[in-house]
Amino acid sequence: MTFDALAIRKDFPIFQRTIRDGKRLVYLDSGATSQKPQSVIDAEVDFYRLHNAAVHRGAHQLAEEATDIYEGARTIVANFINAAEDEVVFTKSATESLNLISYAIGNAPFGNRFHLASGDGIVVTEMEHHANLIPWQQLAARTGAALSWFEVTPEGRLDLSNIDSIITEQTKVVAITHQSNVLGTINPLDAIVRRAHAVGAVVVLDACQSVPHMNVDVKALDIDFMTFSGHKALGPTGIGVFWGKSELLAELPPFLTGGSMIESVTMTGATWAPAPRKFEAGVPNMAQAAGLGAALNYLTAIGMDVIHTHEVKLTEYLLQKFETLTDVRVIGPKNMDSRGGSISFTCGEIHPHDLGQFLDSQGIAVRTGHHCAWPLNRKMGVPATTRASLYLYNTLDDCDALIDGVIAAQKYFGR
Ligand SMILES: Cc1ncc(COP(=O)(O)O)c(C=O)c1O
Repeated sequence: MTFDALAIRKDFPIFQRTIRDGKRLVYLDSGATSQKPQSVIDAEVDFYRLHNAAVHRGAHQLAEEATDIYEGARTIVANFINAAEDEVVFTKSATESLNLISYAIGNAPFGNRFHLASGDGIVVTEMEHHANLIPWQQLAARTGAALSWFEVTPEGRLDLSNIDSIITEQTKVVAITHQSNVLGTINPLDAIVRRAHAVGAVVVLDACQSVPHMNVDVKALDIDFMTFSGHKALGPTGIGVFWGKSELLAELPPFLTGGSMIESVTMTGATWAPAPRKFEAGVPNMAQAAGLGAALNYLTAIGMDVIHTHEVKLTEYLLQKFETLTDVRVIGPKNMDSRGGSISFTCGEIHPHDLGQFLDSQGIAVRTGHHCAWPLNRKMGVPATTRASLYLYNTLDDCDALIDGVIAAQKYFGR
């Protein structure tokens, strides 16, 4: 199938509008959130317009239809990541998924395989988004477990040279990002998963920046838990996925408790329904699940390999163009070896916020700041960067617009 980003843009209503006095919208902020095709908007609206009811509960037709849509979305997610349906838990976001697992581990009593105490270890990396760092800091503080981490090299890769002294016999959890939201680096999971499993630790993968952009097969990666956010994968906000191997979900205690997640209840206690319901307390985000299902169907129809190839082409093009600019420093790998389409950069003395504002005046949407990865920024020696993040609807024209915008900003700010 030939890939036509211009045809794809027609499926996204937002690209029909203009920005800042009639300018074409150059959207380079998909790492923060992606735009939505009409089919996703329709799926969410149709749920409310035609099928709205609380899933799993009602004894009426609408409840049956709503349940079919909600559970149908679970099947779509499971197929998308090569998982079993009962391993897919809907949350409100990746942030919630990572809090779910870290709080659930913290709830594990003595004797449960997830029980953590002083003397145990949790391993993260210096390139984590705060969503995959702070919940683990908090869990370490609550349980007495030690938090350690892989450092990042000046090129923006993980330093695995001392892997055996970081993941040790004491390590119980290794929580790592698949693709950095700042650097674009795609991490080498093989060695990390092998070492983690050799010491009996579970691997939690933050796949927020990989699942929307490439084929991610949880079985092939041999990870134990994974999360991603719907809204970065063309889906609605308010829906995230938490996936875990079924035998692990069976042992993991719940995080939120209440309605829908129980097997039986007395006045003094309760037992839990099996996963995924054990982790879905309350009336869930049904319309958002419908939207996520439509989003993943949309991506599947185009093909994740085709999308990835398109993004590689654009990223390579942008990196080469940045090389030709004076005073522009890309923070992260400068070649396409294990790298995705998030490109963070500094531009001499121009503050990223000023640059972002200038680009915005040209119709170009980028993100500026520390991108919720403050320790990583510190490590790379930059207080903030400007980030362009690419997706299937971006074109070489978008890349050229960014380069022209940066050159114009350099002139405007007298650099
Ligand atoms: C790598 C990574 N992890 C986690 C998150 C958190 O996702 P959300 O805000 O959708 O919960 C993000 C969002 O930017 C991210 O890029």
